[in-house]
Amino acid sequence: MLKANYPVQKFEKIETPFYYYDLDLLRDTLKEIHRCIDKDSNYHVHYAMKANVNAEVLREIKNAGFGADCVSGGEIQAAIDAGVPTDKIVFAGVGKADWEINLGLDNNIFCFNVESLPELEVINELAAQKGKVAQVALRINPNVNANTHHYITTGLNENKFGINMDDLDTVIETFPKLKNVKLVGIHFHIGSQITDMTSFQGLCVRVNEIQEYFTSRNIVLDHINVGGGLGINYEHPNHFPIPDFEAYFNVFRGHLSLKPHQTLHFELGRSVVGQCGSLLSRVLYIKQGATKQFAILDAGFTDLIRPTLYQAYHRIENLTSEANESEYDIVGPICESSDTFAKAYKMNGTKRGDIIALRSAGAYGEIMASRYNLRKLPKAYTSDELK
Ligand code: LLP
Repeated sequence: MLKANYPVQKFEKIETPFYYYDLDLLRDTLKEIHRCIDKDSNYHVHYAMKANVNAEVLREIKNAGFGADCVSGGEIQAAIDAGVPTDKIVFAGVGKADWEINLGLDNNIFCFNVESLPELEVINELAAQKGKVAQVALRINPNVNANTHHYITTGLNENKFGINMDDLDTVIETFPKLKNVKLVGIHFHIGSQITDMTSFQGLCVRVNEIQEYFTSRNIVLDHINVGGGLGINYEHPNHFPIPDFEAYFNVFRGHLSLKPHQTLHFELGRSVVGQCGSLLSRVLYIKQGATKQFAILDAGFTDLIRPTLYQAYHRIENLTSEANESEYDIVGPICESSDTFAKAYKMNGTKRGDIIALRSAGAYGEIMASRYNLRKLPKAYTSDELK
């Protein structure tokens, strides 16, 4: 079994569970994104902070010069604290609270991605109180299927996100009355963990149609934001550590009709940080059940909730055993049956104390950890620290 090339001897001295970030892989990933977009000076990447805000990880992303896509005041503040220039911060979310809007206004962020008419009116009002004009983009629900898990599909009519095409006329007619917001762009996000490029093609086709809507009304848009969503290879993180950014960006080059003055914005999260992170855990017990054997880890869904919440697959490697493979239900210590990372999973034969890596956990891993059962939050280490 091909395994990750990790500093296992260093791991042996560390209390588990913990997250481990391979910063060399992250740097290579960031370089690859640059390689793919640097020829298009009008392409801009805003890292989706919701995927991971580990300080070391953020530092690398900020150093690579990317902006930030935020969905809360907390994320705006974290982006500012990490040194992301405020004119590269976009702010999305269906339920922006007044204090969060004010934080964005006070820091003159690049753009509010607005999800409803009432929100637009509140931003206008709060901006007026400060004597400012907020730049806004309309998040439009394009009704495009992302062909991914239904919990992480966002661009369908049935989803709560974005403004429906049917409501667009009303929103556009309201703009002239609102003096403290300026329409600068349109925004889309159809879902996450999308591996089928035809979904992004479908988005491009819709965006072109929607652009026509604005052009026919003589509305000039400075930018188009196509959100995030590029998936990673959870099955084979060792073979495909860096997503196929070339293919992804080529979809937009080939299918999206940008006007000469327009910039194109991306909000990539998972594809940037997903593969550089792993959750490291130790086997506490091997328990022989009536019909199967359980490998009980010291990590649970409080540390990595994706398998429980989305039935997500994470590759699991036993880093300290070369024994013949055996089949286990790999579970955590939390008092719920859903605390299961994998069922009938084949892994090198294991025993108490073995170190287990749950791979591809860099995105929506550490950040979604909770303290349920009053467990400790997992710590995190980087490859730089453990060299
Ligand atoms: N932009 C917007 C407006 C979003 O809602 C999201 C993700 C992104 C960008 C970044 O998408 P990405 O490039 O990471 O796919 N917790 C779930 C994923 C939730 C994604 C929510 N929105 C999971 O663990 O799979």
